[in-house]
Order: sequence, then structure tokens, then C-alpha cells
Amino acid sequence: MEKILEKIRKTLQKHPTCRIGLCGGKTPRPLYEKLAQCSLPWNRIQFIITDERYVKPNEENSNFHMINEALFSRIHPNPENLFIFNTFLSREEAVNKLQGQLEKLRRERSPLFDILILGMGKDGHIASLFPHSKALDSTWLVTTSETTQFDIRERLTLTYDALLDSDEVILLISGEEKKQILEKARQGNADFHDLPIRKILQNKEVRIYEL
Ligand code: 6PG
Repeated sequence: MEKILEKIRKTLQKHPTCRIGLCGGKTPRPLYEKLAQCSLPWNRIQFIITDERYVKPNEENSNFHMINEALFSRIHPNPENLFIFNTFLSREEAVNKLQGQLEKLRRERSPLFDILILGMGKDGHIASLFPHSKALDSTWLVTTSETTQFDIRERLTLTYDALLDSDEVILLISGEEKKQILEKARQGNADFHDLPIRKILQNKEVRIYEL
């Protein structure tokens, strides 16, 4: 946590805002709850959710629901600082809306993320970039994806083009199975279409927290 706070503070010394990418799933929740207890200029922090299940924000399976319970409901961010998927729209409309918002952020300043917090699935997926998905080769910043292996089949996700546009990348890993998948993804012959985390490891220096 200290490293994250240090990065936020250093970023805010140089820029008007600090941009943090937040993944969903179960693993990051304790970190978000701890972050909510910190004393930070929340009105200068922009939050970008990395992916979403195509459900309404009040549903248990929603990533926004989890992040709101753990963090947003406690720090009361300005809605203008939230870059999230609007799942009241069709998936295509939600993608187009967030694509435009992220393109604007990119025009204002690079990189898109000062800090990107990622989890990883037991199949090596990150965000909702699943193995062998067409989303892996999208040239957009945001796209749709599908899964039959995890909660909620229809997804919305940031792409590699967005996720790799990051200064600091943090990966939260829990359990032996994920550690083994991560080791496999680190091997020279790993293909990111099989293990999507691979492309992040190949292109970014990733700070790994084994929880
Ligand atoms: C999601 C997440 C996803 C998550 C992994 C790991 O929508 O599920 O954004 O990428 O990080 O699926 O999830 P757990 O932390 O629940 O194992």
C-alpha cells in the first residue's frame, strides 16, 4: 500500500490528477478497502475500471458494485472522475462512450494510467481479455468480450492498447494455482493468446503482490 500511496503523491506533485486503473473480481477488494481509509485529495484522483460484467451496477456480480462498496461509497468521488462502463446502454454503446472518454484523457496527458491495478484469472486472463478471444487483437481502447468459464458471459473490457499505456502496473495474485500460471506465463515460449497476462509481462515492469 505504501508504494501505491507514494506513487499517487509523486504523480500529484507533477500533474493536476492521478489516474488509477481498477480491476474487478474478488482479490482487489481488501486493497480498495484499505485505500479508502487513506487521506488523499480524492477530488484529484481519476478512476478507470478495467472491465465489467454486462450486468446492472447494483448487481452482486458487477465490478462497479464491488468497487463502489469497497471504495467509492467511502470516498465519495466526483462522478466526473469515474470512467466506468455504462451497462444501462447496449454493450456497443457502452464501448463507444468509454472509448471517447479515454481518447480525451489520452489527448490531455499520457500515459492513460499512472497506476494500473490488475488481477488475473486461473486461465491467465486479465481484465476481461480471455485466452483466444478476438478482444486480444482489438485496436480500440475498449471492446466487448465473452467467457463461458467465469461469472457472467457477456463482458466489456479495456484492451491491451489501453492497459499497456501505463506508468506503473501492479498485479494482485492469490493462491498456488495462479502463482503457477504466472510462472508459466513468464516462460520464454508462452503465447499471450494462451495466457493473456503474458503480453503485460513482456511489455511492462510489473510489481507483483502475492496476497
Ligand atoms: C473480473 C476481473 C478479472 C479478475 C480476474 C481474477 O471481472 O473478474 O476484472 O480480470 O481480475 O478474473 O478475479 P478474482 O480476483 O476474483 O480471482
